[in-house]
Amino acid sequence: MEEFVRGLPKAELHLHIEGTLEPEMAFAFAERNGVSLPYPSVDALRAAYDFTDLQSFLDVYYATAVVLRTEADFYDLTIAYLERAAADGVRRAEIFFDPQTHTGRGIPFGTVVDGIGAALADGRERFGVSSGLIMCFLRHLPPDEATATFEEALPYLDRLLGVGLDSSEVGNPPELFTEVYERARSEGLRLVAHAGEEGPADYVRQALDLLGVERIDHGVRAEDDPELVARLARERIPLTMCPLSNVKLKVFDRLEDHNLGRLLDAGVMVTINSDDPAFFGGYVGTNYLRTAEALGLGPDDLVQVARNSLEATFLPDDDKQALLDELDAYVGADAP
Ligand code: HPA
Ligand code: ZN
Repeated sequence: MEEFVRGLPKAELHLHIEGTLEPEMAFAFAERNGVSLPYPSVDALRAAYDFTDLQSFLDVYYATAVVLRTEADFYDLTIAYLERAAADGVRRAEIFFDPQTHTGRGIPFGTVVDGIGAALADGRERFGVSSGLIMCFLRHLPPDEATATFEEALPYLDRLLGVGLDSSEVGNPPELFTEVYERARSEGLRLVAHAGEEGPADYVRQALDLLGVERIDHGVRAEDDPELVARLARERIPLTMCPLSNVKLKVFDRLEDHNLGRLLDAGVMVTINSDDPAFFGGYVGTNYLRTAEALGLGPDDLVQVARNSLEATFLPDDDKQALLDELDAYVGADAP
């Protein structure tokens, strides 16, 4: 089963590149950049990964991101992720980055995008992983700053696939960001947003109706609103779910309690992703495997989830179809 799942051609659609910063890498970057981390050792940093909620994670996540300073740091971080992703059967990755986390401490936007972008180009060659970059706005900062970030991104728009919205959710609803999403849409960017991770089902509705997003990142709380669940299924709106993240951040007490299986049964276009794998205890393959084990999902369910992930990509139809054909060939040949 493990070999079958890791080999399943799949897309990863909910992955924060800053969340792939492994503790060892954080200390190596800190040393080469002459910056210090607020933790004395790799073990002490790992020990801080005992989160009580989203905010307790974000505090550590932003604290470790200070070691990312040069184009080489962003390159090394990204290429390491792509290598791991390829080993988990990822054929397409639509990757989030948080420019404000970096520009806010004086790192130029171009340094971030050039470093990540060079790794994405090499990852395509070396590992055969197709990719795109989604710029997320930090919702705990004022909407004006999201707009200013969008303006800073204008010279780089051809490198961006879309925009997203992340960080502290409760109290920072999607409706605050309608203007910047309107601008992103007018520039031809694809639209996604985190919604219904800790925030209410209404934030999922706002993201759909006010921001016009095409996918919902997380969306677990949509289940509180049966009409919304029916709409997600009817309109085939993908949810990029991250089961191990949700347990680490106490959205669910145990993986066995996760609602991914129920939403899948309700016909929602559910996908499995890793969110911030260096912090949450597993990359995408491990998320598939542990979720299957906890929820009793079989090979057919996991093939459906992988198929959903490929269908939910922002690839042109031909490229999407080529990956779906690859999945069909794999399932035909290798069904366990
Ligand atoms: N939720 C919100 N913001 C984030 C996350 C998340 O899971 N990961 C990184 N930034
Ligand atoms: Zn996320």
